[in-house]
Amino acid sequence: MYFSAEFIICAPVISTHCCWSAAHIKLLFYFIYFFAFCRSLWLITDLNQKYVFLLSTQKECLERKRLTEFLSCEKTEQVWRLCTRRLSRMPVQYIIGEWDFRDLTLKLRPPVFIPRPETEELVELVLTDLQRESRAGVGSAAQESCVEVGCGSGAISLSLLKSLPRLKVFALDQSQDAVELTRENASRLGLQDRLQVSRVDVMKDADRVLSLCSSASALVSNPPYLFSEDLQSLEPEIYRFEDHAALDGGEDGLTVIKQILTLAPLILSNHGRVYLEVDPRHPPLIRQWAEENVEELRFVETRRDTSGRFVFINKEKTFHISNIVKEAY
Ligand SMILES: C[S@@+](CC[C@H](N)C(=O)[O-])C[C@H]1O[C@@H](n2cnc3c(N)ncnc32)[C@H](O)[C@@H]1O
Repeated sequence: MYFSAEFIICAPVISTHCCWSAAHIKLLFYFIYFFAFCRSLWLITDLNQKYVFLLSTQKECLERKRLTEFLSCEKTEQVWRLCTRRLSRMPVQYIIGEWDFRDLTLKLRPPVFIPRPETEELVELVLTDLQRESRAGVGSAAQESCVEVGCGSGAISLSLLKSLPRLKVFALDQSQDAVELTRENASRLGLQDRLQVSRVDVMKDADRVLSLCSSASALVSNPPYLFSEDLQSLEPEIYRFEDHAALDGGEDGLTVIKQILTLAPLILSNHGRVYLEVDPRHPPLIRQWAEENVEELRFVETRRDTSGRFVFINKEKTFHISNIVKEAY
């Protein structure tokens, strides 16, 4: 439901000039006014602290005295435009058009997947391993490289590039929107020189994947891993606005994961590793499937995230990373 600010502010006054059932109309208007006010408050507290007052898309600094100023018509319109988008359940990240991931601020736009906080922990794990290997001199002769399947906005790839100045990353995604957004974010952050972004569907074009990527130290992915039947129960913010191809992992959530594991031995160097963010139900299934189908891979460990929260899907959040290592030949 949308009400202009002027309508809401004027409503109680207009109602006093009506002679028939004025009291009822007045009551109704007060109810509408109260309802809209509450929704606005909810919207505002829902927004990231950094943008709490949302008075400008240019991130105006909010001075204390400005709190008592009346909004200009232009600003009022702007607030209502933003509120209307939020009331349609558009995620705050898309409304603002950018969001922080680790130490990066990334441009975001629908339908490209919004990076989740738990994925920061996946990045931390990959970084720790790559830094340790780098210190130990593993792979020091050549420039280290990493492959990301399903780069989305570029959150994982760009975080790795930012922290590891010698790393080269091959980022793949089947979505043109995602490929363009990753390139845009890379340029904004000055990380484009060590990043190669390609539009590839890993399910359909394995040969192309192999021609683009080889001898990588790490293969990392936050793939689509939801069970198809769970899609229906997603919050409207996710279901209506995010690309379903970024979420839907097929009947058992493992469609893309199995393909990644099949390609992994061909993409990785001898001591290379696969890092996956998966559903809490997946680790034993993945382990069993990999042992039966990909003999060059050896399962190493599963880690839970530290938050213990499950923010975007209606279940307890304990996401797992199954970290599967390729045996030395
Ligand atoms: C869960 S999102 C992760 C995005 C990003 N890595 C992140 O963590 O924010 C999964 C990504 O995988 C991509 N994807 C899905 N199926 C794919 C496929 N068959 N080949 C390549 N990319 C795929 C989607 O387009 C989406 O961008």
